[in-house]
Amino acid sequence: MLNIVVCVSGGGTNLQAIIDGVKSGTIRNTRIVGVISNNAGAYALTRAKENEIPAFCISPKDYADREAFNQAFLDKLAELAPDLIVLAGFLVILPKQMIATYRDRIINIHPSLIPSFCGTGFYGLKVHEEALKRGVKVTGATVHYVDEGTDTGTIIAQKAVEVLPGDTPEVLQRRVMEQAEWVILPKAIDEIATRTK
Ligand code: GAR
Repeated sequence: MLNIVVCVSGGGTNLQAIIDGVKSGTIRNTRIVGVISNNAGAYALTRAKENEIPAFCISPKDYADREAFNQAFLDKLAELAPDLIVLAGFLVILPKQMIATYRDRIINIHPSLIPSFCGTGFYGLKVHEEALKRGVKVTGATVHYVDEGTDTGTIIAQKAVEVLPGDTPEVLQRRVMEQAEWVILPKAIDEIATRTK
């Protein structure tokens, strides 16, 4: 059984896709042992509670400095002892120690075809705004392992999505989620959970 912790900051639609996948059996051999948010108001926390998944808010606002926040976050992870950490819209710079401790055991979903529209400053709606500004006809999403860089780790899966005339960032974001993110993230977890070592 692959024990996963999902880290979130916002609405949690990717978390929902994972919860649904575990429930329906499209994600096999997997248990969500905890959800951690840096944001007390994140709807993702409600989704976790509604599904009886232990949910925790660890917010920088509640700690004296970044170091204290990082330590609290690392302590919670250690307590939950995940085999895999899934960043599903988690908009926090990870503590260096976390990347070292969980090397090759952290994955992230990014809403573009890496190496386009990624790196520092590219997150959430901003990614789609930039894709529309550039006039690309195809965008998509990427699941990748997390290393010390921003969106630089080994790519696990990608899926392309068409940009259509008249798209707003919001409309494009939704299409990328529906057609790519909610498909490739659950699939990547299933593959990791079922691969033979
Ligand atoms: C998703 O589109 C995810 O790809 C993006 O944040 C959104 C979270 O939505 N992540 C990044 O931009 C990371 N750089 P959700 O909370 O509804 O899953």
